[in-house]
Amino acid sequence: MSGAAKIRIGLIGAGNIGNVHLQEFSKLNAVCEFVAITDAYLPLAEQRAKEYGIANVSPSPEALIARDDVDAVIIAVPNDAHAPLSIQALEAGKHVLLEKPMGLNTAAAKEIVRVQQRTGKTLMVAHQMRWDWLPLQVKSQIERGELGKIYAAKTGWNRRKGIPGWGTWFTQYEKSGGGPLIDIGVHMLDLAFFLMGEPKPVSVYGSTYSEFGPRKKGIGAWGKPDWNGVYDVEDLATAMIKMEDGTSLTLDVSWAVHMDTDNAPFVHLMGADGGAVLRGNEGKFLTERFDRTVDIPLHAPEDDEGGRVRLSRHFLDCVRTGATPWTSARTGLRSNLIIDAIYESSRTGSEVKLDWSL
Ligand SMILES: NC(=O)c1ccc[n+]([C@@H]2O[C@H](COP(=O)([O-])OP(=O)(O)OC[C@H]3O[C@@H](n4cnc5c(N)ncnc54)[C@H](O)[C@@H]3O)[C@@H](O)[C@H]2O)c1
Repeated sequence: MSGAAKIRIGLIGAGNIGNVHLQEFSKLNAVCEFVAITDAYLPLAEQRAKEYGIANVSPSPEALIARDDVDAVIIAVPNDAHAPLSIQALEAGKHVLLEKPMGLNTAAAKEIVRVQQRTGKTLMVAHQMRWDWLPLQVKSQIERGELGKIYAAKTGWNRRKGIPGWGTWFTQYEKSGGGPLIDIGVHMLDLAFFLMGEPKPVSVYGSTYSEFGPRKKGIGAWGKPDWNGVYDVEDLATAMIKMEDGTSLTLDVSWAVHMDTDNAPFVHLMGADGGAVLRGNEGKFLTERFDRTVDIPLHAPEDDEGGRVRLSRHFLDCVRTGATPWTSARTGLRSNLIIDAIYESSRTGSEVKLDWSL
């Protein structure tokens, strides 16, 4: 796309995160506008259309994708519909902002990559955490070489009592593709790889466990439980990921666990000359001076606009310029490859080599 015309967006999925996209993209209304919205539950789409002044409520995703006045679609529906809808949209010549995880599994992710490469349209995965102020600060110091070579990292997010929407699509493998690994682990993988400089992962060793969900324990506040539903995913996962260049990353995630945890997402970066840690809304650099350890705290400014609006702006910039998004189809595939390999390693008890072939 070129010129100064506003980018016209259609939103598929008006639930929790669809509503967040409405709020964030509305802040950028000088350069984009919502022209259509749909949801499997149409009254919700109608309600949001009224709230945000969207002229058209499409009866289905297919009808929305077919509209000539839609340049880009945002897909914010359960994970099993990510590949079918994003492929349809790309084939119809639309740019796509797709919620995480990119695919339900590796096969779905590879299909998205193939179609994106063939159509050449923008496909970006919505990982907002790398757009937060703290990671961007850390990244800029890494790029200046302040931390030296980052040879190892640890990331994770341990919720002590946080199973979302028990019995809904969140906790059904067929619809979600997994538990905390694919829900919150996928964000941590994206953030850690960003800070590590996007190394290529080659092998994975991991274990997953399901001790809380099957007993209807560990329930959190996100989503409304459906006690007649199904819970067949893990509630804890732990893994070691090895990269082509010899660096490594450990990942620990849980929706529910008896652990002394502050429930905050974290990344520790170990560099030869310095380290950095991000934990929730706090961060610091770690180094050594005068033969002593030194910690340098980082504080985000109170008036920072936030990562989600920067993510939205980046998507619009990529649509306009044709640049590859930071969170491309390729990085989405990377996460799906790792997550599936952790499940396989847990089943087999062995290390799993990642198969990058398309
Ligand atoms: N980036 C983030 O921070 C973040 C946070 C939460 C969820 N998510 C992701 O966003 C997606 C949606 O999660 P949510 O929490 O908003 O779920 P949700 O259940 O609140 O909303 C999903 C909406 O999609 C609708 N829907 C379901 N199937 C559909 C289809 N085929 N076509 C059209 N509409 C359909 C449902 O009616 C519902 O309104 C998931 O992929 C999830 O992983 C991302």
